Amino acid sequence: MPAGSTCRICSGTLREFIDFGRQPLSNRFVRPEDIEGETFFRLATGICESCTMVQLMEEVPRELMFNEDYPYVSAGSSVMREHFASIARRFLNTHLKGEDTFAIELGSNDGTMLRTIADAGVRHLGVDPSGGVGETAREQGVRVLVDFFEKESAERIMAEDGPANVIYAANTLCHIPYLDSVFQGIALLLAKDGVFVFEDPYFGDVLRRNSFDQIYDEHYYYFTARSVQALAARYGLELVEVERLPVHGGEVRYTLAHAGARTPSLAVSELISEEDASGVAKLETLEAFSAKVDAIRDDLVGLLKDLKEQGKTVVAYGATAKSATVANYFGIGPDLVEFVCDTTPAKQGRLTPGMHIPVRPAQAFTDPYPDYALLFAWNHAEEIMAKEEGFRASGGRWIRYVPDVTVS
Ligand code: SAH
Ligand code: TYD
Ligand code: ZN
Repeated sequence: MPAGSTCRICSGTLREFIDFGRQPLSNRFVRPEDIEGETFFRLATGICESCTMVQLMEEVPRELMFNEDYPYVSAGSSVMREHFASIARRFLNTHLKGEDTFAIELGSNDGTMLRTIADAGVRHLGVDPSGGVGETAREQGVRVLVDFFEKESAERIMAEDGPANVIYAANTLCHIPYLDSVFQGIALLLAKDGVFVFEDPYFGDVLRRNSFDQIYDEHYYYFTARSVQALAARYGLELVEVERLPVHGGEVRYTLAHAGARTPSLAVSELISEEDASGVAKLETLEAFSAKVDAIRDDLVGLLKDLKEQGKTVVAYGATAKSATVANYFGIGPDLVEFVCDTTPAKQGRLTPGMHIPVRPAQAFTDPYPDYALLFAWNHAEEIMAKEEGFRASGGRWIRYVPDVTVS
C-alpha cells in the first residue's frame, strides 16, 4: 500500500484491493496530432477500514477532467432522457409544489434534467464546471453557473438565491473527491425540510455484476448505503430513503434530509443488512472481484485474438469513459478492434484515450456491418440492441464482458 493512503472522508486507513496500473484520462479523446501530450495516472481502488467508503488511491486534478472540452452529454441515451424527465416530474409534483420553490442540480451537464423544471417555470440553478455542456444547457433555457460546486460556490448561491427545496445530483457526487467541502455546502443550502437526492453507480452492483469498468478516473467514490449513511451523519444529515435504479448497470438513488426532519424508510436498514450479508466490505469479497477481472481479461483478449486469426471484422460500440479501463488494462487497441462508433460529435474523428482506437460516427457501424461488435456501452444494451436489430439479423454477433464474456 502506498504511504499516506488515507480515507478522503474520515482519515481512516485505506486497504487497496484492485490496481489497473497506468491509465489515461477516460474522457480525453485525443486528436491524432496530440498523441504525445497525454496524461496518465495510476488507477487503483481501496476500501476504508473505518467508514467502508470505497475510493480511488490517486486523485486526478479536477481541471484536467472537467473543463470547456468535456465531451460527455446526458442526452446521448433516450432511456436516460426519459429517466431524467421522470425524476424532474416527480420533484415538480412533490418538493417543488409550493410557492416560489427552488431546485439546484449539481453536474447539470447539458440540461437534460433541468429543462423539464425550467419549462414548468420553477426557479432553478444548474452548477457544472464544464462550460461547453453548460452552454448547451443554456440554449435550452436552463440557468447555469459554470463552476465547481463546493463550500465557496454554495455560499455565493445561498447569498443570491437562498435555500433550496431540492438539491439533485446524478452521476456527479461520485466524481467529487472533496466531499467535505461539498457537504458543508449542501448542509448550508438545503432548506429545513428540503431533500438532497443523488444517484450513482452502486458498489453492491459493481461486485455482483463484475462491472469493474465503472472504475475510472472520474469515479472517485463507489457508494454503499452504509458508507453514505456514515458520510451524511458527519454533516448533520440523515439517509432517509434508498431506491435501486436499473440505469448504468445498477445505481442507488439516496435521499438525505436534515437529521430528524424525516423518518428514515425501512428500505435503508434493509439495504444495509443486505450489504452486510453479501459481504460488500469484506476483503475476501473484494479480492475475489479482483481475480474475476483478470479472468474476464484472459477470456476477452483470447476471444479477440482468435477472431482476428480467423479474419473476422470486429468493431466496438460506444466510446464510453468506462471502456478506457477495459481497453488500457486489457491491452485492446486498433490491432484487435478496428474502430469504435459513437453518436457524440465531440468524440468523433478522435482516438480513444491511451489505446488510440479511432472513433467514428454511428453510421460507420452499418456501412457495412462488422462480423462482431464489442459492446463498450453495455449499460445501454437494451436501447442499443433494439436500435441495431439489423446487425444480428445480418448475422452479426454482440460480444459482452460484463458480468462474463459472452457472444450472442
Ligand atoms: N448529471 C449528468 C452528467 C453526469 S457527468 C448525467 O447523469 O448524465 C458528471 C458531471 O459532473 C459533468 O458534467 C461534470 O462537469 C460535473 N462535475 C464535476 N465536478 C463537479 C462539481 N464539483 N460540481 C458540479 N458539477 C461537477
Ligand atoms: P455512458 O455509458 O453513458 O457513460 P460513460 O462515458 O460515463 O461510461 O456513455 C455512453 C456512450 O455511448 C456515449 O458516448 C454515447 C454512446 N452511445 C451511442 O453511441 N449510441 C447509443 O445508442 C447510446 C445509447 C450511447
Ligand atoms: Zn473512511
